[in-house]
Amino acid sequence: MHAITVPSPGGVDALVYTRLPDVSPGHGEVLIDVAAAGVNRADVSQREGHYPPPPGASPLPGMEVSGIIRSLGTGVNDWAVGDRVCALLPGGGYASLAVAAAGQLLPVPDSLDLVDAAGLPEAIATVWSNVFLTAGLRSGETLLVHGGSSGIGTIAIQLARAFGSLVAVTAGSSAKLAACERLGAEILIDYRQSDFAHELITATEGRGVDVILDSIGGAYLDRNLRSLAPHGRLVNVGNLSGETGTLDFALVMRRWLSIHGSTLRARTAAEKDEIVASVRKNVWPLVLSGQVHPVIDSRFALADAALAHHRMESSEHIGKLLLVP
Ligand SMILES: NC(=O)c1ccc[n+]([C@@H]2O[C@H](COP(=O)([O-])OP(=O)(O)OC[C@H]3O[C@@H](n4cnc5c(N)ncnc54)[C@H](OP(=O)(O)O)[C@@H]3O)[C@@H](O)[C@H]2O)c1
Repeated sequence: MHAITVPSPGGVDALVYTRLPDVSPGHGEVLIDVAAAGVNRADVSQREGHYPPPPGASPLPGMEVSGIIRSLGTGVNDWAVGDRVCALLPGGGYASLAVAAAGQLLPVPDSLDLVDAAGLPEAIATVWSNVFLTAGLRSGETLLVHGGSSGIGTIAIQLARAFGSLVAVTAGSSAKLAACERLGAEILIDYRQSDFAHELITATEGRGVDVILDSIGGAYLDRNLRSLAPHGRLVNVGNLSGETGTLDFALVMRRWLSIHGSTLRARTAAEKDEIVASVRKNVWPLVLSGQVHPVIDSRFALADAALAHHRMESSEHIGKLLLVP
């Protein structure tokens, strides 16, 4: 198979296109002929040597793919050779063949482009598990999404709108905010032009928001907490600005706030199966109807993974970057 390896950590040139022996599915797994792999921020950290794959996972980067099932491992009864699928992976997506756990597959309808479907599993599972299962966002509540135009953000906006929430976003340019608005975001804040916490309090007439999906981390901790309404929930999934910040416990107590954090990749297989099953039941009908769709910035050949990482690091993209073997 063709694959991208990272023989030694570093810049984009650390991604090496090569040929490797084909992988094969074990018990409870399927082998996928990869149509595309989604690129995630975590892949950049892995390439740099800051985010090693969990024990037992493929050393190749790539946490999500779409494609066609080529063969089944033992004990797989509910999928068939030839099925169009997309999958959450602990690694190994940057390749022409990938092995996925049968419990972490989702069916790709004919109405959805098979390549574009690679942009869904990681973002949908992350947003669903954090914003809905953990933070319990309810219809009528307001969600703030930092990095609204990111792969994660574009899905968070669509899901929150579909489930009846008002959505506020921060992003770094007017073009990015316009893209967020087209997806349904209503409070649009250019964090480079003004202080997001100030803008948000004004836009919500002093109340604040109910849930914040935060991938910025340390530098935003205090302002995030000050942007929450009573009983507000902060869910942290990334630390693009750094890992530490100052926590005002008095504020947490006075407003009955809660703070959560999680990382999807390191969860147990059983937990990820459960999240994917919940996504299939609760979110996938919205994908089947077209109400929620992948927002694709650009496609690159797998051999050009370095160009895709370069674009991700430039932060110029809106939505997902895909690698096509
Ligand atoms: N915990 C989990 O399970 C999990 C799973 C998936 C993703 N994530 C996290 O979710 C975040 C988004 O992931 P993604 O793959 O969707 O990323 P992405 O598409 O590359 O989006 C990240 C965006 O964040 C914005 N940003 C704001 N401050 C930034 C900073 N200091 N440095 C870099 N970018 C900054 C940038 O847009 P602007 O122009 O608006 O600044 C950038 O485009 C990442 O932190 C990722 O690690 C976590």
